[in-house]
Parts: sequence; C-alpha cells; structure tokens
Amino acid sequence: MSKKQDIARMRELETLLDYHSHKYYVDNNPEISDREFDALLSELQGLETQYPDEADPNSPTKRVGSDLTSEFISVEHRYPMMSLANTYSAEELGEWIDRITGEIGQVEFVAELKFDGTAISLTYENGALLRAVTRGDGRRGDDVTNNVRTIGSVPLKLRGKGYPSLFEIRGEIIMPYASFDRLNREREAAGEPLLANPRNAAAGTLKQQSSQVVAHRGLDCTLYQLAGENLSFERHSESLEAAESWGFNISHHRAICRSRSEIEAFIAYWDTERRALPFATDGIVIKVNSYAQQRSLGSTAKSPRWAVAYKFQAERALTKLLSVDFQVGRTGAVTPVANLEPVQLAGTVVRRASIHNADQIAALDIRIGDMVYVEKGGEIIPKITEVELAKRPADSRPFEYITHCPECGTELVRVEGEAKHFCPNSKGCKPQITGRIEHFVKRKAMDIEGLGGETIELLWENGLLRDIADIYSLDSAKIAALPRLGEKSAANIQQGVENSKSVPFERVLFALGIRFVGETTAKYIASHFRTLDAIMAASREELAEAEEVGSKIADSIVDYFSDQTNRDIIERLRSAGLQFEAVQRKQHSNSLSGKSIVISGKFVGRSRDDMKAIVEAHGGRNIAAVSANVDFIVAGENMGPAKRQKAEKLGITILSEEEFFAMIQDEESSAEADTGAPINEDTDTDTDTAIDTTSIADTESPTASQTAVQGTLF
Ligand code: IVH
Repeated sequence: MSKKQDIARMRELETLLDYHSHKYYVDNNPEISDREFDALLSELQGLETQYPDEADPNSPTKRVGSDLTSEFISVEHRYPMMSLANTYSAEELGEWIDRITGEIGQVEFVAELKFDGTAISLTYENGALLRAVTRGDGRRGDDVTNNVRTIGSVPLKLRGKGYPSLFEIRGEIIMPYASFDRLNREREAAGEPLLANPRNAAAGTLKQQSSQVVAHRGLDCTLYQLAGENLSFERHSESLEAAESWGFNISHHRAICRSRSEIEAFIAYWDTERRALPFATDGIVIKVNSYAQQRSLGSTAKSPRWAVAYKFQAERALTKLLSVDFQVGRTGAVTPVANLEPVQLAGTVVRRASIHNADQIAALDIRIGDMVYVEKGGEIIPKITEVELAKRPADSRPFEYITHCPECGTELVRVEGEAKHFCPNSKGCKPQITGRIEHFVKRKAMDIEGLGGETIELLWENGLLRDIADIYSLDSAKIAALPRLGEKSAANIQQGVENSKSVPFERVLFALGIRFVGETTAKYIASHFRTLDAIMAASREELAEAEEVGSKIADSIVDYFSDQTNRDIIERLRSAGLQFEAVQRKQHSNSLSGKSIVISGKFVGRSRDDMKAIVEAHGGRNIAAVSANVDFIVAGENMGPAKRQKAEKLGITILSEEEFFAMIQDEESSAEADTGAPINEDTDTDTDTAIDTTSIADTESPTASQTAVQGTLF
C-alpha cells in the first residue's frame, strides 16, 4: 500500500475507533466485539509506529496510555471552578428555593445527581480535546490531559455540529464501584493499603504519573456544565442536550422541576434508587435553568447563588457485633476494631468497623452480641454510630476495656486529655517498631521500594531490622537467604535504600514519624528552619514561630529530639548520607533588590515562608514589622487590621498577591520550584491508627477562599 493509502486508512481507523468507543463507553451499546475493537486498534498502532509524524495527538490509541511519567503543570482556569453551597434538610432547601423565587419570581430548575468523584474541566478547540485540568484550588489546577485521554467516555474529538470553536465543559471523573472493588482486590493481593472510597480513588488515579496505570484503573467521566463566551443557549438543559449530541457522556438522571414538590420528589426517588447505581453519588444538585436568571443571581466568593447541593444522609446498615480486636499503631495508640457479621453497605460488603476509643464504647454502651448501626464516613473502615437497644440479648454484659497491650502485655496508660490508651513500651512492642519502619519507607516518606509490610515483618523476625537506621546497614546476602525473598528482592531493596538517600529533607523529616508532624507540617517546618540541626536546636517557642506549628506540635518535636535513642538514630541516619538540609534556593532575579518587604496574611496555595523565599530569590529583604523603612507590604487574606492601619498611616503601598507577582513578573510555577517547599492540596493527618487510611487521599478542597468572580461562568 502506498503511504497515501496508509494515511487515509489511519484517518479511517481513528473515525471508526472513535465511533465504537462512544458506542461502548457512552451508549453502553457496543456494535462490535472487544476482539474486533482490539484488532482495529492494533492496526492503527502499527500504522502510527510506521508514520509517527502522522499520528494524531488525540488518536484513540492514546487511550491506552503511555508509561512516560508526566509532571503536572499548573494551569490557571479561564473561569474559576467554584464549589456548591450545601443543604442537608428539606427546610434548608426550601429556604434556598424561597430566596430564589423571592428574588426573581417564577423559576425553572434542573435537578441532577451529585456525582461523588473529582471535578475536571475539559477544554475543546475546534472539536478536539485540548486540555483537561483538575480543580486544584479553584483558580489553578493540574494539567492531567494525558491521563484523561485514557478515559473511554471522554470524547477526544467531537461529533455532530454547532459546538463553539473554543469552550470548556466541566464534570466529574468517577470510579465506578466495579473498578473500585477490582482495584482494591488487586491492592489487597499486593499487600498495598486499600483506597478509602471511589472519590479518593478517582482523584488519586488522576494524579498518577503513568497514564498506562490510569488506563487500567477503569475511570469514567460524566459532564454537567458548559462554559464559554459564545454559547448560543438560553438554558442549562439545552446546553446539556447539545453536549450530548457532540458525544459527551451526560447523565440522563436529571429532570426539569418547576416547583418545590417536584424537586422533593426527585430527591426522594434518588435517595433510594441511588443504591442501585453503579457509581457513588452523595446528593442532588439543583440549578436554575435559565442562563439570564443565573447571571442576575450571580455568585458569592465561593459558590454560585443559582445552584445548591442537597446532601444525602449517609447510608447505614444494621448488623451484629461479633467481637472486638485491639490494634496497636506506630505511636503505641490502641484502636479497638469491631468484627461484624458481613453486611452490604453503599456498594461494598462490610466486615469490620472502627470504634475510636474506650470512651466511645462507653458512650454508646456497645456490647458484644449487640445489633449495631454502621455508617461509612470518608475512611476505609466504616464506624459504629448507634446500638439498636431493642434487639439487645437479655444476657448481654457491659464491655470491659483491655488493661494490657494485646501485643506485648505491658500495662496500658491513658494520658490526661488523650482519648486513646497507649502502650508505653515503644522500644519493645513489635507493631510500634514495625509501624515506625513502615511509615519511614512509605511512598510519601522515603519511598523505599521493595520494603513492604510483610518484608519488614520478616526482617524484624529474623533480627535484621530493629529501627529505621538499620535499613541503611542491611546485609544483602542475609536478605537474599530469607524465605520468600531471594537475590532479586535483595537487590531491589538495596536499590530502593540507595535511592532514598536523595529524598528531599522535608520528606526525611516527615519520615521520622514525629507525632503530629504530618506531610504538610513537615514541609512548613523544613521551609522555616532549613536544616535538621536548626530544628533540633530550636526551643519550643522558636518551633511554634513556624507557620502551622502550634504548641502541641512544638512539644512533640522537642520530646522527640530529647530522647537519646532518637538522637542516636538521627546520627546513624546522618552517617548513612540522608538529606538533612533543604536545597539551596536559587537566586532568581534582582527585581526586588534593595527593597524591604513585609509579607502578611494567608496566601493562596503557598505558605508565608514560601512567599518570603520568593522575596529573597528576587533580591528583596524580608522585614517582620511595619515601619517607615518598609517599601511595601504584600497582603494575603486576613492581614491584621492593626498592621493595615499602621501601613495606611505611614503611606506604605499594600500589594495583593497578584500585584506582587505581576511586579516581579514571574511565573508562579517557576518561583514555586525554587522554594523547595511548595504546599500541596493534601490533608495533613497523623495516621496513628492501626488501620491504614493513608491511601491516596486527595481532597482537592480549595486551600483558601477564592476571590470574587467577575460575572458568572457564561
Ligand atoms: S455543578 C459552581 N453539577 O460538586 C459549581 N457539580 O461542591 C458547579 N458535582 O466541584 C458545579 N455533581 O465537583 C455540578 N451535577 C453536578 C455535580 C457537581 C457533582 C461536584 C463538583 C463540584 C462539587 C461542588
């Protein structure tokens, strides 16, 4: 065949594969078998290898993903991605409806499902997918286009006609229960921590570095909002219909409602029926249908006034409490875990539930043999929320809490003000030791591949690992001789250990496992003090000066470093060559040379220390207090009123964050890369429970309230 014919065939295959993808993923009505589909796909792949220059960036082959890793670039949203105001009862919803109708009279609403996934904004240019960006902090998100391309229900090229030459469409990336369950089964088999819920799983998957992994995870995408400047629609419902005709996956589970009772009927129906849906929903979204009315209602700083979410009550199930186990975490905290008669709840079978501590057992008067209600919160393990007293067996007895550690037999202690019992034997109690090592090696800490929970246990049992510093003197030959391991594993571990020596300081600090010093706090502290020696030498008061560090965290850090065993471990880690210093900041420009600057308030997506680092990187000088010598102040949110007054009195220029960046004419991203301690969107928790809830939580909640948006989205 001639090259021309081959290229024509490539275009034909692209069209055919797009058509069949839509039939399969959006219409759920495939016309050809998987095998036939794969044959077309591999034919196209073959041609693309032969003519790489002719391959379309939106070719259906891109759905398979690639194993190239992609750093995500932060992109500013053309229109901010806002959140929705929540209502939790018919009364609250009624008040919202009354307010809307009171303001603009007769209104038509659209009621839709509230999909429980992670928000995405897709940009299409001339009918082709240009970009997919996560919500991020609402103003800027991560460019995850390569990952989103692998999702079958996202059209890479649009069909039909009438779509604007450039527009955004927003929706939710979800992980259907079937994909979620399969993924957790795979993770369980591989000894990896389970994912808490489909929402976290979807968000975490989207941030995977390899799009091949994403392609395998079985995500789905449903769209619910169009945004653009030249949209010709008068109503939201019309835009959804048009979007459907262009090939988007638009949920049919929506209705036009003209009254409060119609909205309530929709809610009542889905409150029950959602249990039969193959994906998670957490409520109903009600939107004013007319765009003109949406514009006249406008938005608050955080959310539009023309839409509201009605959140469903968490689902709960009734089942029997069979027994209670006690697990000991890495800090010695004891967590009771209930064993239940298996029961179906929100798409999965529940066998275990957490009970937080002895007080909760007493408050709910939980007894073995009771029928109890379990609910799913945001965590993997559901919790017991109530006892059905009417079903209590006549011979039941109050629960007696344990007095000694179930692992090492040491008498438990209960510190004043703490809810949990602790095993004080931190140096001899096995789960505490292995728990600290597991924390140290995990992905977000030292990321030592090859050292999973089971391997750590095995090394511990064989006397090869007693503390985190032992990791750096492990003997490969001894590891290779252990059952289930061998030379390959030993080499793998050795390589992981070696690589960990270049893990940046902030993660080393997090890896130490100091109580209350989670991932984000570690970043703040590393950014403030720069070296481990400075942290070790700091007093409680000095520690508490760092942003986000309160007296509780400061105390915990001082306690940690005053323990000689910990100090010995630190010295051994130092000799092993771990990073005990933050990377040197690069000098960026001299645009602030000679200027004295005060940084005050809270900033979007950055700590104050980051801001100060940026000032220094541009040659400026950071000053703590406002005085006549100050050239200007960069004010984030909540700058103290006294400071502001003083500045105004002295006639000092006050710049907003945006004005400041415009001034140094710098891209946020490049400046951020220099600070060595960017602040992520993640939550910062000290997961000191035996149940691993770390997973890949990614809450994507806005880090700071967004500034008011000019106009609505349309
Ligand atoms: S409309 C201004 N419609 O809920 C926000 N959002 O708390 C417009 N969501 O970030 C969003 N289902 O991720 C809209 N049918 C739906 C939705 C929906 C889920 C999510 C979305 C948004 C969050 C708001």
